[in-house]
Amino acid sequence: MRIGMLTGGGDCPGLNAVIRAVVRKGVLHYQDEFIGFMEGWRGVLDDRTMPLNLDTTTGILQKGGTILRSSRTNVKKIEDGFERCREVLATHKLDALIAIGGDDTQSISVELARRGVNCVGVPKTIDNDLMGTDACFGFDTAVSIATEAVDRLHSTTEAHSRVQVVEVMGRDAGWIAITAGIAGGADVTLVPELEIDMDEVERLIRARWESGKRFAIVVVSEGAKLPHVAGQVAVGDKLDAFGHVRLSGIGQLLAEEIERRTGYETRSVNLGHTQRGGTPTANDRMLATRYGIAAIDLVHSGRFGRLVVLRGTGIGDIPIEDSIAKTRTVGEDLLEVMRALQP
Ligand code: F6P
Repeated sequence: MRIGMLTGGGDCPGLNAVIRAVVRKGVLHYQDEFIGFMEGWRGVLDDRTMPLNLDTTTGILQKGGTILRSSRTNVKKIEDGFERCREVLATHKLDALIAIGGDDTQSISVELARRGVNCVGVPKTIDNDLMGTDACFGFDTAVSIATEAVDRLHSTTEAHSRVQVVEVMGRDAGWIAITAGIAGGADVTLVPELEIDMDEVERLIRARWESGKRFAIVVVSEGAKLPHVAGQVAVGDKLDAFGHVRLSGIGQLLAEEIERRTGYETRSVNLGHTQRGGTPTANDRMLATRYGIAAIDLVHSGRFGRLVVLRGTGIGDIPIEDSIAKTRTVGEDLLEVMRALQP
């Protein structure tokens, strides 16, 4: 078969592992031919491609980023965008298209599938908030980076008897914050799923001082909402093609409010894109590889319009549209773990 592949949305560690797995199984076991579209859906619209074969995908398993590059291109915003995509895919005589991406990317796959394109999806986001799958690759790497940062911040924060706020990614769901918060032993963890109660934050920090520890670590999701600020904290008001603001800055505002209330010196650090960069963990390479193999198998079994997913420890698949219906947020079970560790 002739198969196209693209990576869309924010990059995350493990994208190259998916690409490699798809190409290796496709070439070695199915005699497939592949074309990679550059920069997500933009590459389809502009017909910008690169060859994908055993030579171009060797040595990329452990590399972060994506050899196909990525972008947040919204085909819905482009006049005749879907027609243009269909034409380009037809010119290349493609039998199927594998789109690796989160809800925004998959929302385009759904539309193209409705127009007769044979799409298969692979779920990706460090935020880990895609509905229908228990995990997205990239999340484990992001959490490892955030946890290491929390570990490192302990010694300097203690040395100066400070409060340290750590802002992590997570636009609508607090998976990175809650996991790095629990794994890193943060004293306060704040996620978009729960209204922030500043009295409670103050109580928890004062409890640290009273216990004799005299320093505290606070982890906060970029998408959490402060009670004294309207909406999410963003840089400017520019929206991307899918209508998202650029979230950043809640950590600093939170630090100022903590210092004002407690009188304890409070600093903030925003981990930002460091959480998305660099080499994927072994776990993410495994998950990405399993997803890639499952995606090429779906193509060959003719089961289009499906997204590969993790259910428990096994790989399955669901209709792509089920993954974009709503966001998968942090459940009460993990929130309970967090509360159980607090005084
Ligand atoms: O959607 C994943 C994500 O990493 C969010 O956590 C974050 O808000 C966003 O991407 C940042 O995107 P960009 O790299 O386009 O600024």
